[in-house]
Amino acid sequence: MKISKICCIGAGYVGGPTMAVIAQKCPQIQVTVVDLNEARIAAWNDNDLTKLPVYEPGLADVVAEARGRNLFFSTEVDKAIDEAEMIFISVNTPTKTYGIGKGMAADLKYIELCARQIARVAKDSKIVVEKSTLPVRTASAIKSILDHTGNGVQFQILSNPEFLAEGTAIEDLFTPDRVLIGGETATSEGQKAVNALVDVYANWVPKDKILTTNVWSSELSKLTANAFLAQRVSSINSISELCERTGANVNEVAKAIGLDSRIGAKFLKASVGFGGSCFQKDILNLVYIAKSYGLDEVADYWEQVIIMNDHQKRRFADNIIKTLYNTVSGKKITFLGWAFKKDTNDTRESAAIYVADYLLNEQANIAVFDPKVQEQQILTDLDYLNTRSSEENKNNVDITNDPYQACKDSHAIAVLTEWDEFKTYDWQKIYDRMLKPAFIFDGRNILNKEELEKIGFIYKAIGS
Ligand code: UDX
Ligand code: UDX
Repeated sequence: MKISKICCIGAGYVGGPTMAVIAQKCPQIQVTVVDLNEARIAAWNDNDLTKLPVYEPGLADVVAEARGRNLFFSTEVDKAIDEAEMIFISVNTPTKTYGIGKGMAADLKYIELCARQIARVAKDSKIVVEKSTLPVRTASAIKSILDHTGNGVQFQILSNPEFLAEGTAIEDLFTPDRVLIGGETATSEGQKAVNALVDVYANWVPKDKILTTNVWSSELSKLTANAFLAQRVSSINSISELCERTGANVNEVAKAIGLDSRIGAKFLKASVGFGGSCFQKDILNLVYIAKSYGLDEVADYWEQVIIMNDHQKRRFADNIIKTLYNTVSGKKITFLGWAFKKDTNDTRESAAIYVADYLLNEQANIAVFDPKVQEQQILTDLDYLNTRSSEENKNNVDITNDPYQACKDSHAIAVLTEWDEFKTYDWQKIYDRMLKPAFIFDGRNILNKEELEKIGFIYKAIGS
C-alpha cells in the first residue's frame, strides 16, 4: 500500500515540524495539517515566515520549500480526514487537572475527540497513527472507539512516538537516531499498515534505523526514554547540591563521569531543573500506570525524579533569597530567559515559571527578558498557576525586549535559559547599570565566572 495523502490533527510543536519535514522529504505525498485553533493555522500560513507559531532553527526553510506544493495548513478537519489514507494524531495530552488521576494521569479527552471525529467522517479504511505521547494501551481505546462508532470501516492503529527535542527538531527529524513504529504485526492487515509507514520514513531514513515493535512496546518506549533522560538530569542535579556543600565542582564531576563510555557525556548538565512538555508529564504517567497495577515501589522510584526536580527549582529560588540577605521584598531581580531551554519559544513547565512564583511570593519585583518568548505568554504562564491575581502578576512582573534595560537598577540576575546570546553580552555595561553588590545566579552554568568576578559581580553557579 502506497500512501499519497496524509492528514495530521494538531499543528503544535510536534505536528507542525514533523509534517513539514515529511512533506519536504516526500514531494509525492500530500500532507495536510489541521488544527481547531484558527489563529494557529493562520500563523502557519503567514507569508512572513518569522510569524510561524513554532520557533525552531531551520523550520522556516523547510516550510518555505514545501508549503503550497504538498504541505497545507487548514482548519477543515473533516475534509482532511476524509481525503487521507493515513491520519496522525498529534494533539496535546496534558496532565489531568481534575477527577481520578488528577495531577498525574494524562488527559485523553482530546485524543478521544479525535478518534470520534475520525470515526464519524471516515468512509474508507484508514491508518491512524498515534504521534502524541500516550499512556500504554491507549491504542486499544482508540481502536475500540473507531470500531464501535465507525461506519463499518477498517482501521489500523499504529504508535509512532516522536523523539525530537525542541530546539533541534529539524535536525532530529532529518537524521533521527531511530524511528519507532508499533503495530499489530501479527495480522497481515496490521503488517501492511506498518509497512506503509515504514515506506514513508524510508524516503530519507536508512532502513536499519526504522524499528518495528508491537504497539505496547512502542508506547512504553517513549515514556521510558523520557524517564531515563529526566532521571539523568535529576541525578546530576542531586549531586550539584552535594558539590555545593563539599567544595567539589559539578561540572568537573559531570565531565569525569561522562568520559566513561558506559555512562556517556549527554544529559549531565546541572541546571535549575528540567522543564518542557514531556519529561514531567511522561514520568507522572509512568508513575500513575505503575500505581494502577499496584506496583508501589516502581511508582515511588520514578516519582523521586520529579521530587528531585521540584527541589532543585525551589533550592535555586531559596538560594537567591538567602544570598540577598534573606529578603527580596521590593527588590528587582532580572530573569534572563523564560523558555524551558534555548532555541525554542516553548515555555511549558519551564523552571523559570516556578522560580518566579516563589520569588513573587516573597514580594520581589521580577524583570524578564527572553529573546523569543512573547510578553503575553509569560503573564499567561504565571496566571495559570493561580497563586495570585493577573492584576498582581502584571504589576510585579516587567517584561522588556532589551536585556540591558531589564538589568537596570536590578539587585540580581538569574539565568534561567541557556540562550547563547547571553554569553556575548557587554557584562561591564550591565554591571554599571545594576545596584551593588551585583549578583548573578547562573541556573545554567553558561557564563564565565572569572570574567564576571573581575568586573565585580558576585557570581553563583549551580553545583560549585
Ligand atoms: C503534544 C503533546 O504535548 C505531546 O505529548 C505529544 O507527544 C505531541 O503532542 P505539542 O505538539 O508540543 O505536543 O503540543 P501543542 O503544541 O499543544 O499542539 C497540539 C495542537 O493540537 C494544538 O495546536 C491544539 O490546538 C490542537 N488540537 C488539540 C486540535 O486541533 N484538536 C483537539 O481536539 C485538541
Ligand atoms: C524531550 C526528549 O529529549 C525528546 O526525545 C522527547 O521527544 C520530548 O522530550 P525536549 O522536552 O524538547 O525533549 O527537551 P530536552 O532537550 O530533552 O530537555 C528537557 C529539559 O531538560 C530542558 O529543560 C533542559 O534544559 C533540561 N536539561 C537537559 C538539563 O537540565 N540538563 C541536561 O543535561 C539536559
